[in-house]
Amino acid sequence: MAIQKTEKIWHNGRFIPWDDATVHVMSHVVNYGSSVFEGIRCYSLPSGPAIFRAPEHMQRLIDSARIYRIDVDFSRDQLVRGMVDLVKANGVWPCYIRPIILRGYGEVGVNPLNSPVEVYICNYPWGKYLGADSSEGVDVCVSSWTRLAPNTLPAMAKAGANYMNSQLIKMEAVLNGYSEGIALDVSGYVSEGSGENLFVVRNGILHTAPLANSVLAGITRDSVLQIARDVGINIVEQQIPRESLYIADEVFFTGTAAEVTPIRSVDKISVGTGTVGPITRAIQQEFYSIVRGEKPDRYSWLTPVPVSSKQPVGV
Ligand SMILES: Cc1ncc(COP(=O)(O)O)c(C=O)c1O
Repeated sequence: MAIQKTEKIWHNGRFIPWDDATVHVMSHVVNYGSSVFEGIRCYSLPSGPAIFRAPEHMQRLIDSARIYRIDVDFSRDQLVRGMVDLVKANGVWPCYIRPIILRGYGEVGVNPLNSPVEVYICNYPWGKYLGADSSEGVDVCVSSWTRLAPNTLPAMAKAGANYMNSQLIKMEAVLNGYSEGIALDVSGYVSEGSGENLFVVRNGILHTAPLANSVLAGITRDSVLQIARDVGINIVEQQIPRESLYIADEVFFTGTAAEVTPIRSVDKISVGTGTVGPITRAIQQEFYSIVRGEKPDRYSWLTPVPVSSKQPVGV
């Protein structure tokens, strides 16, 4: 899916034209993958555009940078402000927002500490990630690739380099005719998709892997856990054996890109009846009704973007 570019990009606190946001081929990030980033949705509500869990995303960005000893000259609130200003300035929503912090052009060599830190925020129109009809279910496989092992590349940091592993998972799945792959962790327990957290429902109980199974601390995962707690669904956060996927009543992905995407089959074994199950449906409906502004934002998840026209101009 090609990016539909917007006019401006936020760079180190000021706007630059989209086409000027370039990096040198000898920059640290190009050679050694030294970047941390976020992916955030800005939804279109009847009241105007609103960014989903803006402070939580910017906090995770700062946390990812901290793990990699990247000093960021901007506070969480300044980054949130930058993102709001950008959506307003480009006037494009609903959209995807991509903040990225990278080690730029400085010294050559693995030691990153003398390369300059550059902070960018971009936004562009974006639709469904796993296909237009993905809210009715996708077919997935268990990947032959293992998720990042503990104490190798930290899975809790959303770092560009982690996505080399995600690319292997995704390519294998797509080339074999699946929408997505589920990776197991180094011990063989269910971890997550290439860019999504995973939930399994069995006998009315919602299961998800804890962070120690090499999963990203997904913000949609956290939102789904909040909704589930609120509507009285029992939650178990513990290791999930691979075979649970084959005997589950329901399985679904969560993520900024995937939102709440039901899984119809795993390795060609149908999940439950092969249709969207009642717990997935209930969570999906609650999630979408909040982010679309059909229900009150009772968790304060949405940061409004003040715009003069209330007309969505994205996708
Ligand atoms: C590897 C991985 N796991 C999980 C997620 C879901 O996280 P979130 O809900 O914060 O988008 C993502 C997406 O960012 C991801 O890339």
